[in-house]
Amino acid sequence: MKKHFMLTHAITADPAFEFAADVRAGLDRPGQKELLSKYLYDDVGSALFEVISVLPEYGLTRADERLLQRHAGDIVERVPAPVMVAELGSGSGKKTRWILEACCRRQHTSYYPIEISRTALAMCARELGDIDSISIVGFEREYLDGLLEVAARRKHGEHLLVLFLGSTIGNFDRPAGVKFLRQVRRILQAGDSLLLGTDLEKPIPQLLNAYRDSLGVTSAFNLNLLARINRELDGDFDLSQFEHTVRFNPEARSVEMHLRSKHNQTVTIPKAELSVTLLEDETIWTESSHKYSASEITEIARQTGFRCDGQWMDREWPFAENLLIAE
Ligand code: AVJ
Repeated sequence: MKKHFMLTHAITADPAFEFAADVRAGLDRPGQKELLSKYLYDDVGSALFEVISVLPEYGLTRADERLLQRHAGDIVERVPAPVMVAELGSGSGKKTRWILEACCRRQHTSYYPIEISRTALAMCARELGDIDSISIVGFEREYLDGLLEVAARRKHGEHLLVLFLGSTIGNFDRPAGVKFLRQVRRILQAGDSLLLGTDLEKPIPQLLNAYRDSLGVTSAFNLNLLARINRELDGDFDLSQFEHTVRFNPEARSVEMHLRSKHNQTVTIPKAELSVTLLEDETIWTESSHKYSASEITEIARQTGFRCDGQWMDREWPFAENLLIAE
């Protein structure tokens, strides 16, 4: 059965201008150069991430899906009805199906995916539109802006269940993650819930292999950020002069992706009004994936105005779904 899908379009004044400003701020500075990881996910990057998620070395997405498939019933049972579901970064929507089916079995459910990628929103509507008793309204927004708008649609007596799956929180460093959870908590009411997926600590060689797969898909995913700058900001990065590198940062307990300059080189990015010089072996830091322990999540929940009501863990690939209830 085809269901109605609505999309609330982006309100950003000029996304190209923001991208240019962020690229400039990240590259035109002393010390470690940096590009924000959210820019990895244009249409090409999002498609490459879908491939990463099925690579043998990268168990994260499969662990997330296994947990949701196995435990969606138990998880939803702990969330009081009636519930409206918001998802921060829906991606393709594939792993959300189990939670939504469990909700829709109880009653008609509104689902609000919040995404900066319009393509991902469209994919997600196509993927989930066949569930019985669902209505989907997509928000092409940054997470907190979207969540504010969804919360404003709350009907009397309705609870909000926010999904933040796939260890996207791992892209924040620890203090920024805590700050983000506090901001989410401020938008929620007591009794609302947040289902948070977190990748757990595991042996370093296993972690490094997950981010430097033998097919080179993660390398392409990383290099695509430079290609995107070339496409959208008229940059002249020569991709063959950069190498995808991965390292474990033991202080931050994160896997870092960088792009290493193979030679001394100068790159110009006209639409960011920028010319950058890179030395041989200098890197541009593009993403961090922080790894957590289960007890740490319980503690962070407490610090941010939640209580951890349940944790479901995968043993094959250590990963946890954490159900946080707003206090
Ligand atoms: C989608 C942010 C969870 O950090 O593991 C995968 C992204 N980057 N391979 C992660 C990613 C390189 C992924 N997250």
